[in-house]
Amino acid sequence: MAFGRGKVILLGEHGVVYGHPALAAGLGVGVHATATASTEDVIVARPWDVEARVGSDQPLALGLGAILEGMPADRPRVRVEVDVDLPGGAGLGCSAAIGVAVTGALDTLLGVERTAEERGDYSLRWERVFHGNPSGVDNAMAAVGGVALFRRGQPLQPVHVKKPLSLVIAHSGESSSTKEIVARVARQREAEPERVDEAFGAIAALVNNAKLAVEAGDLKALGQLFDLNQMLLAGLMLSTEKLEELCRVAREEGALGAKLTGAGAGGCMIALAKDEADAGRIRAELAKRSPLTLVAMAGA
Ligand code: PMV
Repeated sequence: MAFGRGKVILLGEHGVVYGHPALAAGLGVGVHATATASTEDVIVARPWDVEARVGSDQPLALGLGAILEGMPADRPRVRVEVDVDLPGGAGLGCSAAIGVAVTGALDTLLGVERTAEERGDYSLRWERVFHGNPSGVDNAMAAVGGVALFRRGQPLQPVHVKKPLSLVIAHSGESSSTKEIVARVARQREAEPERVDEAFGAIAALVNNAKLAVEAGDLKALGQLFDLNQMLLAGLMLSTEKLEELCRVAREEGALGAKLTGAGAGGCMIALAKDEADAGRIRAELAKRSPLTLVAMAGA
């Protein structure tokens, strides 16, 4: 069984599309996939009860078709089954996790050898079907995990975590399409290049400082950097009232910082807690206002 993990972007979303760095953490939850030889190329996604045949215009079929195009020509037809344990449209990298798990399952069936990094790169084929202009951060993290600095077109740079990061993730209940939001930011950048690039420059500086804070175990500084990143993202109209409310509640409950994660305009927020016990408490408070919450320990 192959696995693709979910991820959270700790800092740097959107700027990363334009070549700026982002800091991300892999999650323990994600997507499992298996592939078997079959009479037709088909993908079955259990949680949604979807069965899609390559050749149809269903998104999952287009994704599988894109992945199969680069596989050995003498391959058998395949049936791929995926079990998705992540919400979609939540900023947790669900589609990239599926792409990585499907690639891994096919690699196993067809005897293709790839490193985790190579699998992440290869599965960009899948992501492009769903995403338009993916930076590649989701795929790289889905395949490799850990805490890492990502820059478009460059190898993932693992980051040493001195003190584990206790993260609380809470869904706003608002679904958002990464493709649409990335396109919206592109339009904003076309209309006001200086303002948007200035914001991305400032976010990049926060990312570089956050990397240093993670390496030094300075959670307080990291939390402050979360808050500053959230302000800049809100300035790009990527936050919502609900995300702001969740960030506020997390901070009131003692979080060191909080921000949206992923594309924004809905999806999830993340809060940095002092430790795991605090994270549990903050989560309980957020659960009163959020349909889905979880605690993730990064670098533990
Ligand atoms: O919403 P997600 O989990 O797909 O994260 C998207 C992150 C962006 O920086 C907004 C886009 C990208 O391709 O990096």
